[in-house]
Amino acid sequence: MRAVDLIRKKRDSGEHSREEIDFLVSGYTHGEIPDYQMAAWLMAVWIRGINRSELASLTEAMLCSGQVLNLARIPGRKVDKHSTGGVGDKTSLILAPIVAAGGLTVPMISGRGLGHTGGTLDKLESIPGFNVNLSLEEFFRVLHECGMGLIGQTAEIAPADKKIYALRDATSTVENIGLICASIMSKKLAEGIDALVLDVKTGSGAFMKREEDSVLLAELMVETGVRMGKKVVALITDMNQPLGRMAGHSNEIAECIDVLGGGGPADLVELSLELSAWMFFLGDRTKSLDDGRLLAEAMISTGQAREKFKHAISLQGGNEGIVDNPQLLPQARSHVDVPSPSAGFITATNCEQLGTALATLGGGREKKEDSIDHAVGLEFHKRIGDRVEKGEPLATIHYNSGAKLAEAQRLIAASYEIGEVASGERLPLIRRIIGA
Ligand code: URA
Repeated sequence: MRAVDLIRKKRDSGEHSREEIDFLVSGYTHGEIPDYQMAAWLMAVWIRGINRSELASLTEAMLCSGQVLNLARIPGRKVDKHSTGGVGDKTSLILAPIVAAGGLTVPMISGRGLGHTGGTLDKLESIPGFNVNLSLEEFFRVLHECGMGLIGQTAEIAPADKKIYALRDATSTVENIGLICASIMSKKLAEGIDALVLDVKTGSGAFMKREEDSVLLAELMVETGVRMGKKVVALITDMNQPLGRMAGHSNEIAECIDVLGGGGPADLVELSLELSAWMFFLGDRTKSLDDGRLLAEAMISTGQAREKFKHAISLQGGNEGIVDNPQLLPQARSHVDVPSPSAGFITATNCEQLGTALATLGGGREKKEDSIDHAVGLEFHKRIGDRVEKGEPLATIHYNSGAKLAEAQRLIAASYEIGEVASGERLPLIRRIIGA
């Protein structure tokens, strides 16, 4: 078999056999197929698509490129959640402590920021000392001791995805339903979990802008998980505006601490409770979703989730003092407001552009080698439907260097659509549930 023939086959809308996909994935993972051939194949897939049978082969080939964790020696059910990515999307750091405090095990293997979206690992690294690079042995020990662990993809787990994901980020081949499904499910199925809750974002800040595409992606991921013997559900949730009030790294950790302490913005609280409830329910911890919601609320009101977060931080080498004193997180030197150019109502936001503005300030990567400034961030003051006066702040920029400030200000100001009347109906945060 030759990679060049398989690229031509996909370019001409052909269908790959399982052997052909195994050849491509294994060859690329082992360095036998170069980046330029894999990039060409990914672009052919992006344009021509892959069918369900090719998708099953691709997911399994990526899963089998590494090891599947055996968590049998850790008692109880193991449940995880994965989001397709958005702006201000920080629920993982709220759910993991809630669900672990409620008695399930959460072995969370997360990623870094991709494109305009933030990544859980980058957020965790704003906590001084926090180590996301535990060995698998250390990960097992942390899971045993506190029921939750938060690490990055190790060399053992779906190495094909790690390599392909980085190549996709650099070749504009991220936003493809089949490739996203294979990427997420190969990693998540390698975690050795019993159940998985997927948060599939839809809207201007999501990779899938149209709800029908998000639904199709959700259906494919649920189907893939169920075929592999897991309990899986997907929530289609709104990403037409940032989730919560903060986007960045330190400031998102501080917002998670607010929610764990019983505060925080309504949309973030609502989604966190709903996702936790599904995790409790699929993990057989509660008999119903309503009971799951009550348990999640109790873990917050009794302070157990907050304590769990502290414990998890200290076990992974971080300074748990940040939970009582978020000022210990990296802080930006300066801040400036972005004023509204006119009076009226916010009718829409270009949420992807808000994510790009954050990246411009150093809060995201342009190239995978770039480092992140954990202190910079955006604070949003207005949501869709809100009234705004001319000159009133739409957002506050927390920044360290003035070099790209004007560019970020321009992007943010241009991201808000302001009309004379509030647009009719407000879309619900949770649009649909797939696979319930
Ligand atoms: N998140 C992933 O893990 N993979 C993708 O392809 C997109 C989002």
